[in-house]
Amino acid sequence: MDFVADNDNNNGDNNNNLLGETFTASDKFLERAHITRMDYYHRIYQLSVQNPDAFWLNIAEQFYWHNGIQRNNNNTRAAAAGDGADGKLFDYNFDVTKGPINIRFMSGSKTNACYNLVDRIIDKGLGDRIAYIWIGNDLNERKTITYSELKRNVCKFANVLKIQGIRPGYRVAIYLPVSLELVTAMLACSRIGAVHTVVFAGFSSQSLADRIIDANCRLLVTADGTVRGNKLIKLKDISDESLVLCKHRNHKLVSCIVVKHLPVPNSCQQNRWSKYEPKFDETIDHYWDELIEAASDECQPVWLDAEDPLFILYTSGSTGKPKGVVHTIAGYMLTTALVFKYAFNYRDGDTFFCTADLGWITGHTANVYGSLANGATAVLFDGIPTHPNAGRLWQIIDENGVNSFYTAPTAVRTLMKFGDDYVNRWTMAKLKLIALVGEPINREAWLWLYNVVGRGRCPIVDTYFQTETGAPMIFPIPGCIPMKPGSATLPFFGIVPVILSEDGQELSGPNSGYLAFKNAWPSIARTIDGNHERFESTYFRKFPNYYFTGDGAVRDQNGYLWVTGRTDDMLNVSGHLLSTAEVESAILDNKRIAEVAAVSMSHPIKGEAICCFVVLKAQQIYDLQLEIDLKQRVRDKIGAIATPECLFSVRALPKTRSGKIMRRILAKIARNDVRELGDLSTISDESVIDELITVRRVVGDGDSGQQ
Ligand code: PRX
Repeated sequence: MDFVADNDNNNGDNNNNLLGETFTASDKFLERAHITRMDYYHRIYQLSVQNPDAFWLNIAEQFYWHNGIQRNNNNTRAAAAGDGADGKLFDYNFDVTKGPINIRFMSGSKTNACYNLVDRIIDKGLGDRIAYIWIGNDLNERKTITYSELKRNVCKFANVLKIQGIRPGYRVAIYLPVSLELVTAMLACSRIGAVHTVVFAGFSSQSLADRIIDANCRLLVTADGTVRGNKLIKLKDISDESLVLCKHRNHKLVSCIVVKHLPVPNSCQQNRWSKYEPKFDETIDHYWDELIEAASDECQPVWLDAEDPLFILYTSGSTGKPKGVVHTIAGYMLTTALVFKYAFNYRDGDTFFCTADLGWITGHTANVYGSLANGATAVLFDGIPTHPNAGRLWQIIDENGVNSFYTAPTAVRTLMKFGDDYVNRWTMAKLKLIALVGEPINREAWLWLYNVVGRGRCPIVDTYFQTETGAPMIFPIPGCIPMKPGSATLPFFGIVPVILSEDGQELSGPNSGYLAFKNAWPSIARTIDGNHERFESTYFRKFPNYYFTGDGAVRDQNGYLWVTGRTDDMLNVSGHLLSTAEVESAILDNKRIAEVAAVSMSHPIKGEAICCFVVLKAQQIYDLQLEIDLKQRVRDKIGAIATPECLFSVRALPKTRSGKIMRRILAKIARNDVRELGDLSTISDESVIDELITVRRVVGDGDSGQQ
């Protein structure tokens, strides 16, 4: 698929005159790289930001539009610019001071994402190509599905949804392990115009219920369970609990469709999950297999507006209530397709392996929408990187001829500590590229990935993005942009990042500040479901006329961007965003706790971890059982990923004279970075600080074991 032509034939040098330590792609990689020259990158980049409508029109033409590409839409931006209404695909307002935030792209053009991802690929003669290689937790679990088979299953499940009463615009919750059924359910929704909301299968029943209710989901797709390493996860039990919670809050679903995901226990050799029999309530539950069996495999796609919602995906918010980020059909589809091609240097026939769970934006973007739009073969892995041993990912890469591997810094740091032998056992013969996402990567882990896993010949593509941006925005286009370990480098086509000062001034040259984006791009989120005001205040109010990411960044002397992390009350644990408010609210459910502050501390594997300072109510004593209960409450309410790494029982929290908790100071104490605590002039009781430092030093990290 040629979205943007590859390099033209002008044989200029790769303008690699950047200062500092840079890495460039190997000659072998360059032979097949889409773009190899910086001057070419700069030229296309300039075109893409100077005339985004023309740039994206070229991309849109590669897709199917049921009524053609509508360019004569009622375009306020074009009208305001006085340059006529035709030819414009974008229509947006980023300036809250001028009116509501409103982003539209290709509005009026009719399309269907599922059709473009599956039928269009089959029409190109690729029906027999493997769309997915699914690999389970245990070594012998492997299935494949071709594009034609996928279409058949998707049509069947789309008909099932219709029979269950699902209509365009209705919301469907999907709480499944990484599986072919998960992809099928997502695509079936998009085929009939239903809006999927995938909930990561590591979330608790409470989190699932919150999301089902918030998005007003009418149907839930779940599974009996899944096995991760040696642990059985009883997803149906969790789903049942969550449906009870929904009922208590007067939210009733029409049905719950259950995938039998656990392998059938072998009669000779009893499996560890053979005794698990989830409950089955005939008034609401249905088995996936039985419904699919009975359904027709013909289902015409519903032609939807480019701006109709495609999916909702929840991400943490700093107030504690997760935000249902809404993405729309055309913008998300086009951006993910284009980014997939360039970030992973996708070439026809490549096999792509991304370790992200499908319940996160990376899974949606890379494993489903981006991969299928390019006709790629993707590996889906429903296991953990250390089972049965720390060589599992490398084994998958070798055994499946993986060309591009996409993972998170946390996984790299985890596997690195097991040593090089696990990697060296495998040849990595077909691997040509490695990409990263989710959090800043430390230099040591980057170099290990580059030298040991990539054998010094694979570019490392550090991609910066967010649930809200839909697709990577900043990354080194492999083969073209020289890499620096730890930097996401330069913006992708059509993206204009800026660094802002506290008072909203754009800072030029080498500088540090708030990372924001200046122009709209097609896959930017359109709203927070049911709360547009929150969307505006979270991303657009602090800096009018910019989308504010919530991250801080540094621009170096070469213009490279280094994302330094969150500037708000959010934590990034193993690449997953969590809000401190959400964790604090779970801890406060315990009646023995008077006050709590959750802050981030650095962690060698997870990047960041959660550290909680708790103040007990009068006459309460902190003991091990209380600590276990508090951790368990967080797991039950949010999920295991939010479990605090350490808890400190303290007499008081540092507060300003107006009563605001001084988290900045707590974060420094949690990080054992107490030499310079900053401005303490507003603190109401300075003696608290010494006590906190002492508790932190005496108790140490991890299991606090306080009495
Ligand atoms: O802080 C940034 C960090 O992850 C946040 C987005 O989290 P989420 O919406 O859950 O999506 C994660 C996967 C896309 C960002 O605000 N982040 C993401 N990628 C990077 C990163 N930080 C540094 N470098 C990255 N490559």
